[in-house]
Amino acid sequence: MFAVPQSPPIPTLSGTIFLRQPFASMPAFLRGISQQYGPIVRFRYPWRSMYFVDDAAMLQDVFINNAADFKKGRGTERLSRLLGNGLLTAAQPEHLQHRRLVQPVFHKKRIDACAEVMVEATRRRVDAWTPGATIEIDREAMALALEIVATALFGSNLTDDMAKIGHALDVSIATFPFAMLPFSQIFDEIPIPITRRFNAARDTLDGIVYRMMAEHRASGRDTGDLLSMLMASCDDGDAGMNDKQIRDEALTILLAGHETTANAIAWTFYLLGRHPEIEARLHAHLDTVLGDRDPTLDDVPKLEYVRALFAEVMRMYPPAWITARRALVDTHVEAYPIAKDDIVIVSQFVTHHNARYWPDPDRFDPERFVSGMPDEKFAYFPFGGGNRLCIGERFAWMEGMLAIATIARRVRLVPLDTEPVAANPSVTFRPSTRIRARVESRDRAHVQV
Ligand code: HEM
Repeated sequence: MFAVPQSPPIPTLSGTIFLRQPFASMPAFLRGISQQYGPIVRFRYPWRSMYFVDDAAMLQDVFINNAADFKKGRGTERLSRLLGNGLLTAAQPEHLQHRRLVQPVFHKKRIDACAEVMVEATRRRVDAWTPGATIEIDREAMALALEIVATALFGSNLTDDMAKIGHALDVSIATFPFAMLPFSQIFDEIPIPITRRFNAARDTLDGIVYRMMAEHRASGRDTGDLLSMLMASCDDGDAGMNDKQIRDEALTILLAGHETTANAIAWTFYLLGRHPEIEARLHAHLDTVLGDRDPTLDDVPKLEYVRALFAEVMRMYPPAWITARRALVDTHVEAYPIAKDDIVIVSQFVTHHNARYWPDPDRFDPERFVSGMPDEKFAYFPFGGGNRLCIGERFAWMEGMLAIATIARRVRLVPLDTEPVAANPSVTFRPSTRIRARVESRDRAHVQV
């Protein structure tokens, strides 16, 4: 038993207020709730309560101190239709076993070895942009991030499959808002059009992953990619993975590892286009650190301003912007009791815009991160925390930083639209419209011929 101090009253609202919110306006709605009612608010339903929490110390309880008292929410359960029982979707205590098996795949050495793939893929994409041409930054970033993670995962021989993987992932993600509707699981086994589309997309992905596994097995050698490492865990005696588990982990890495980073890269160039002074500061920094060459792994620690920029973008537009936990037992966050089966919702978007931690929170200002990270651990948590901390965090920082440096060293992406682009919150924090830009070469001296 734990001793909980006297609990102060929690502002309580009817749950229907939350249910009535369209998903698209949820970030602004939750931010308003926190501003109006404070760090913890209860939405009451006849069958349970749901709490919205926007406080670093309370988040620390949810993610770390009392993490064992919670499991993931319904969104994760619905994702398992696509991802099966992979690292993202597995529940405790099984999750711990998955984490141990997958951890070697994300060993520093393996991830560092991906730096070349990251820079090379970005360089090829930028080379295909003719100066003066119009590009859609969000689409380019999505294709780039998919190419990077798929190449890191499967190895190099992917050209024919890339479009198929991209399309199948898009189709399956597009069904997610429907999958989140109450009782939508009834339709999982009924062949209505949306179920058929989802099943076809999942079959395509299964086909590619199982074929890749067969090819790896036939070649009989570790080709240095992440799938080889996953398959090596398979041969690790009783604790190893079977083929279905390898498939689940591989698809999880593909999905979790590309939308998130792609959105962060797209928002970076969107913001740079609207803040020429910050873009100029970035260019000066790149000129100093890189001169006329593309970045390498060794440059990553030197690219301090790129790190600060990428951190600030993920503060303002956190790719994973909301998550939920369900209490497995009666527990508490700080002094507030949470009953078994109650839900706790937290939002990176809201906490990253909380003026208690971030003065002038709507101002885009990478300088906030130049001198380091904030003191309070959960004032900033784009990669979650505790035992479910993003396993790809190192990969994501490296990819984001190397891609931004490789692109910004060579070109400017000049915005073609003056209207601000709103976010479209889905599984990730995507832009709601295309981000169009004109490609402009930087100083010719920087452009490799
Ligand atoms: C900017 C990029 C990224 C962001 C913001 C991000 C964010 C997150 C967050 C917030 C979680 C925890 C979710 C929760 O607690 O419910 C998570 C988990 C995860 N992420 Fe990422 N992620 C990013 C990139 C990546 C990459 C590149 C990979 C793989 C290559 C990856 C693989 C995973 C996996 C496998 C998990 C599940 C970990 C577990 O539960 O043990 N992520 N990510």
